[in-house]
Amino acid sequence: MRAEPQSFDRVLSSMCTEPHEAAREAAERFLATNPGDPATYPAIADMEGEVVDALGQIASLSDPHGFVASGGTEGNIQAVRAARECSTARNPNVVAPETVHFSVRKAADVLDVELRTTPVDGDYRADPEAIEAATDENTAAIVAVAGSTEYGRVDPIPALGDVATDAGAMLHVDAAWGGFVLPFTDYEWDFDVAAVDTLAMDPHKLGQAAIPAGGFLAREQATVDALAVETPYLESATQATLTGTRSGAGVASAMAAIEALWPEGYRETYERQQELADWLAEELAALGLDVVEPSLPLVTANLDPTLFDALREAGWRVSRTATGELRVVCMPHVTRELLEAFLDDVRALRPRAAVAADD
Ligand SMILES: Cc1ncc(COP(=O)(O)O)c(C=O)c1O
Repeated sequence: MRAEPQSFDRVLSSMCTEPHEAAREAAERFLATNPGDPATYPAIADMEGEVVDALGQIASLSDPHGFVASGGTEGNIQAVRAARECSTARNPNVVAPETVHFSVRKAADVLDVELRTTPVDGDYRADPEAIEAATDENTAAIVAVAGSTEYGRVDPIPALGDVATDAGAMLHVDAAWGGFVLPFTDYEWDFDVAAVDTLAMDPHKLGQAAIPAGGFLAREQATVDALAVETPYLESATQATLTGTRSGAGVASAMAAIEALWPEGYRETYERQQELADWLAEELAALGLDVVEPSLPLVTANLDPTLFDALREAGWRVSRTATGELRVVCMPHVTRELLEAFLDDVRALRPRAAVAADD
């Protein structure tokens, strides 16, 4: 095999990062284990329980239920599936702000549930009134985002919890990206502040574990039970995860990363990366760009499409929002030096891009 994995030198678009050293080692050690078959691989199955407990602690849930998923997509699909299973509606629907991650669209699609998306407020956050207006007696779940993919915004979770309670629906919080930094902010996002039923948070994103490591948490065991199917040929009775065979690497690396970093390491990461995001936002604004003020370590700004293409051509792994804005995710591998080099290229390529755009 000749191919080499890409380096993180110029990666500004990813919500994943280099795993913590301890996570990398743990992933390798537990690569050939399968928590999906707990009677055969009890050590990794026990460790999965420890990861769920640790995730519960981070998300303020003292008696957590759940499992390590393959990522945020599985977490969101499982949340919608649990809500559908727990709902008595014949044609259940799910209501979410339009900023919801596209995995919720997949969830609606594979589960044959109607997804109703609602406009966000002027700051890209879910509008509880719009969410409420979209709910009805068939609403099985409201999905809120704590750390949105494009703008890093945190929806008003307590207000959405009230709407969900009034509608008799479950509230799922998608903190797949934000979950490991939100504990160090003033945002209200977790099980403690609202009627949150389920929550997704991914060790393989800001948790600095190896891929695949997502987390699915539920307040009630009954929610996880609603997902369980019988597993006749295994020595364990049921399985609640969507995937069958699962890599123990995800579980072990999540545990190792959390042991190494919770809470102080994550706090330092948050403070450093947030400071960088705030600084980048100021620098981009000084260049005359329209910048969306970062609320988490993610910067979005209007950028000329020709300049965007020139930056991609120069090797920068940057990405765009649905409406074409530049999106820079300040993950732990992103340093001040890296952003300075990026800004140098923005300045250098700007005049050339302007000429190309005029042609
Ligand atoms: C908020 C949010 N939810 C869910 C996901 C999907 O996660 P994954 O790609 O790990 O399945 C993402 C991915 O970036 C995300 O940002």
